[in-house]
Amino acid sequence: MRGTSEQQTRKIVALSRQGESSKISVEKAIKERRSVRSYKHESLTLQELSQLLWAAQGITDEKRGLRASPSAGALYPLEIYVVVGQVEGLPAAVYKYVIGKNELIKVGDGDKRARLSSAALSQSCVAAAPASIVVCAVYERTSRKYGQRAQRYVHMEVGAVAENIYLQGRAMQVGTVFIGAFDDESVKKVIGASPAENPLAILPLGKI
Ligand SMILES: Cc1cc2nc3c(=O)[nH]c(=O)nc-3n(C[C@H](O)[C@H](O)[C@H](O)COP(=O)(O)O)c2cc1C
Repeated sequence: MRGTSEQQTRKIVALSRQGESSKISVEKAIKERRSVRSYKHESLTLQELSQLLWAAQGITDEKRGLRASPSAGALYPLEIYVVVGQVEGLPAAVYKYVIGKNELIKVGDGDKRARLSSAALSQSCVAAAPASIVVCAVYERTSRKYGQRAQRYVHMEVGAVAENIYLQGRAMQVGTVFIGAFDDESVKKVIGASPAENPLAILPLGKI
């Protein structure tokens, strides 16, 4: 956690810089990618969480503001929340990923993993994982340009984000599973999403 008063008031957490190499090839990560629903009883590090968030939506071209996952018209309709329980150096709480700044901002207090699991039809991996990423979409950002086709585009984009998280996780021995079965309104309440933000995927994260 940084120390200035402004950051303390807004409860901002600076994320680590991303690494750009790993011990396994992209081919091996694809071959060995699996949905993982049970994890070691170990905390994640902030470095690991930072890397996974970068893989999901990090800025990869500063000049043009382009991100790690493709987006129709580069309109970027996705917002990323993290429900944190056991991440070293990060109090249990709900955070939102501030993409351009590579920061997390705290948006809700306390360990919400059990509530998130209930919202996900009691899938136990969500309660057990040290943290879960929740991917939300603001459809209007894309429908303003693409009309009805936006829905299709936004859903494709969530798939790309999830795959990046799976592959980055595989390279770091962090397992995940694409959770699509949940009650939308309950998830929105748990993370404190705005009315325009629609949850589309939960990705629990844990060491394997
Ligand atoms: C859109 C989507 C939704 C999914 N929802 C769930 C889910 O709610 N719970 C779950 O345990 N797995 C879920 N999965 C994971 C699939 O069960 C898994 O990908 C499939 O069994 C194939 O296994 P693999 O990913 O290890 O190759 C989902 C996968 C996708 C692509």
